[in-house]
Amino acid sequence: MVSGTSEKKTGRIRLGMVGGGQGAFIGAVHRLAARMDDEYEFVAGALSANPERAKASGKELGLAADRVYTDFKAMAQAEARRADGIEAVSIVTPNHVHFPACKAFIEAGIHVICDKPLSFNLKEAKQLETLLKKHPKVIFALTHNYSGYPMIRQARDMVKSGMLGEIRYVQVEYVQGWLATDLEKSGQKQAAWRTDPKQSGAGGAVGDIGTHAEQLAGFVTGLKIDSLSSDLTSFVKGRKLDDNVSVLLRYKGGAKGMLWASQIAVGHENGLTLRVFGTKGGIDWAQENPNYLGYNELGKPRTILTRGGAGANAEAARVTRVPSGHPEGYLEGFANIYTEVARAIKAARAGKKLAREVTFPGIADGIEGMAFIEACVKSSRNNGKWTKL
Ligand SMILES: NC(=O)c1ccc[n+]([C@@H]2O[C@H](COP(=O)([O-])OP(=O)(O)OC[C@H]3O[C@@H](n4cnc5c(N)ncnc54)[C@H](O)[C@@H]3O)[C@@H](O)[C@H]2O)c1
Repeated sequence: MVSGTSEKKTGRIRLGMVGGGQGAFIGAVHRLAARMDDEYEFVAGALSANPERAKASGKELGLAADRVYTDFKAMAQAEARRADGIEAVSIVTPNHVHFPACKAFIEAGIHVICDKPLSFNLKEAKQLETLLKKHPKVIFALTHNYSGYPMIRQARDMVKSGMLGEIRYVQVEYVQGWLATDLEKSGQKQAAWRTDPKQSGAGGAVGDIGTHAEQLAGFVTGLKIDSLSSDLTSFVKGRKLDDNVSVLLRYKGGAKGMLWASQIAVGHENGLTLRVFGTKGGIDWAQENPNYLGYNELGKPRTILTRGGAGANAEAARVTRVPSGHPEGYLEGFANIYTEVARAIKAARAGKKLAREVTFPGIADGIEGMAFIEACVKSSRNNGKWTKL
């Protein structure tokens, strides 16, 4: 109905972006995710570190000329002054820019949707937490997008409701093979900054994809890491940051786990898999086949639960768009995070309480992720010594 559409249009959240210009990877994914449920309107950006590219990117994406910026600080200030200024900003730059960009927008009172890992180091992460306490109206989200998948929501609910019993063991891995050679030397920009400690931070694979695995395991099980023993390696000659990490985990409460993150796992693309074992049963899930969740109830035959299918629960259903058998994937999972954030922003706008079931990763996930990276680096430097988070 036309009236419905126009009503929704006026309610859209005005969104800006830092990073994500021509030649960038994840910014375009954020823009697609923001559009999927028609909750946002993309209106401003400081889209590149290169001013000419920032201007060309803004033009190409149809932004008004006066909303295309070459400096994110100027953008935060100018947008905060406008009556029709952005209400939220997506930060999709390399890691070392996350902190100054988050700070500029939080201080301007603008909601922030930042990509992971939260910052360059744990110190910055804690400063952001303090800053957010000073600006309690600012909503902060961190796009650990894998927590947006319906079957992950289902797995989390199954753990919460006790279907798996007491959790004993967690096995999580995120393995890729795209950095099996010194791709960074070819000038490939995503490889170049990820392997540069000045832009990436102290972690290579452990920060880039290990934090996704760490966050996913914590999201599903509710477990918090107590201590870990890790072994970081840079297999590619001359690389300054790790491209492979093996971690043994001890969770608070006694559960244990194992995490493997690798970017030299030849032939693997985005092999994020999670297995959780409890006293009453276990679940298993793989990101590359995300519409299915394996469920093994103690003493019963194996079951495959399907997104949108007969075994899907309410938590999965509320973030499901199309019926079973029509695959949903990466973009839909990402969009679920954006839409959950939109619910929070709209509840805040209306002065209403946020519905209990709305959930998205935030500052606490970011702090845990940065603490995880730093503990892994420290433990590995100390020959795998058990290190508290
Ligand atoms: N959630 C996910 O699944 C996922 C996937 C990929 C990347 N990421 C994260 O997203 C971020 C970006 O990764 P990417 O692969 O898209 O990198 P990229 O190199 O493709 O893009 C980074 C963009 O940031 C811009 N930029 C750098 N400094 C800037 C500044 N000061 N002002 C404005 N723009 C600036 C660059 O010009 C570029 O457009 C990283 O933090 C990464 O860890 C997350």
